Amino acid sequence: MKVTWILPGGAEVSAEVAEGQSLMEAAVARNVPGVVGECGGNLSCATCHVMVAEDWAARVGGPGEFEDAMLDTVEAARGPGSRLSCQITARDGLDGLVLIVPEV
Ligand code: FES
Repeated sequence: MKVTWILPGGAEVSAEVAEGQSLMEAAVARNVPGVVGECGGNLSCATCHVMVAEDWAARVGGPGEFEDAMLDTVEAARGPGSRLSCQITARDGLDGLVLIVPEV
């Protein structure tokens, strides 16, 4: 499936991501600036923060309870589409997904 990250300033990075891969791992593998994934996807660093584009928010869904608490610690301002991208898995139905990398 195709995923596009929109960087602060408007540049875009698009990539094919295999189903089952986390979108943090996919971003790190492609050196998407601003997505660090310091804890390796263990839900303890919040450096994989992205904002799901409005059109996609319903399909991606909201954060779980612990992720929600972690999102309160993110460096950039939290927005309505904020998610930790290690908690989003590439899956059927998300082809074309757009994620916004927040400015920190
Ligand atoms: S990679 Fe650390 S919380 Fe997502």
